[in-house]
Amino acid sequence: PYPVYRELRGTPVLHEEEGGPYVISSYWDIEALLHDPRISSDAANLAAAGDDALLQSEETGGLPPSFLRLDPPEHDRLRRMANSAFGPPHRPRRIDGMRGELREIVTGLIDGFGDARGIDLVDEFAYPFPVTVICRLLGVPREDEPRFRAWVDPLVASLDPGTRQGADEEFARTAREARMQLGMYLAGLAEERAKEPRDDLLSDLVNSRGPDGAMTMMEVLSTSVLLLIAGHETTVNLITNGMLTLLRHPDVLERLRHEPDLAPRLVEELLRYEPPVQLVPQRTCITDIEVRGVTIPKGSRIWLVLAAGNRDPERFKDPERFDPDREDIQHLGFGSGIHICFGAPLARLETQIALTELARRLENPRLGQDPPPYRENAVLRGPRHLEITFDG
Ligand code: HEM
Repeated sequence: PYPVYRELRGTPVLHEEEGGPYVISSYWDIEALLHDPRISSDAANLAAAGDDALLQSEETGGLPPSFLRLDPPEHDRLRRMANSAFGPPHRPRRIDGMRGELREIVTGLIDGFGDARGIDLVDEFAYPFPVTVICRLLGVPREDEPRFRAWVDPLVASLDPGTRQGADEEFARTAREARMQLGMYLAGLAEERAKEPRDDLLSDLVNSRGPDGAMTMMEVLSTSVLLLIAGHETTVNLITNGMLTLLRHPDVLERLRHEPDLAPRLVEELLRYEPPVQLVPQRTCITDIEVRGVTIPKGSRIWLVLAAGNRDPERFKDPERFDPDREDIQHLGFGSGIHICFGAPLARLETQIALTELARRLENPRLGQDPPPYRENAVLRGPRHLEITFDG
């Protein structure tokens, strides 16, 4: 998609058809709009502005909207409560405390390759890793983890605007049912944690108390489902895009092998260079706004192409080059503004550990098919499969 993005930046506000989205692709415009309170992702406010598409398409399975789909003050109240369940914002206790467990899960997955000299990194590593982590974080019992995969899949697919446009009845029903089953399962677990709290995130969400009061059970559920969905495929793709990029830059892979301290900077550069979330399509302006002299009328859809902004030469020097030593790296990979990724500290740590251990453990890894087959998804970018061979 990157050559397409380069072309897109030539028309910073692209509006191709009546009723279609306004596509924004330059770094500074995206950054400004993500901070602009006149740009909303809240279905209720959008409906008031004349865009009820979100109300119709959102398959909530009976749950109230999560804070991803709310404007302030509701957004801030729920996000604050979720945050306090993670511990202090700048040193999230829960995430810091998971370092050892994350390494253990990664080691277990790599041990699972056994004597094989080739794997599909997606199926055998990247996919099972984050779903296991989210389950452990929430406190989902291990024997239930496989059921989660079956529910999370159709939900993630239903978030793709491409799929949604062509969504047939069957597809929509599967997504709705999966969300409902997931909701019912989590409701059962949350009831248990309300009676008998444990040291897990679900207990903290259920028993949250603070200046904002407590979360209702429905809010606990929609927040948990949000964490599951938002944190799953995104992390799969960051790990897979990361390994693919490293295999295409063997010098950097070799450095990581001997210099694990490179991992944090490397992961930031990956979030710029190959961001899993390429585009934020869920924004509508609730009043007329002007961007670069173009008036965007109230009720219009706005697509913010994060991945195009990340390679904007007006913002980054030599943007098409993958350079983990890059110093000035305020990328848009986690978005920006009030909806900036809530799970960023976890996603960073998971990917740093995953890539470091893969670099350390795999002898002479080589890429199979290049380019690999990609998922058909305009929002989330990542290979469907990534064949890797190695000597041991
Ligand atoms: C929001 C990216 C992992 C939870 C976002 C947004 C982006 C993003 C771009 C902004 C969406 C918008 O503005 O509409 C990513 C990437 C990840 C990742 C690239 C992995 C590499 C995670 C994880 C979790 C998570 C692991 C949870 C544990 C969330 C939540 C929001 C969010 C809850 C909504 C925040 C809000 O509305 O205030 N993420 N994410 N994400 N992310 Fe992530």
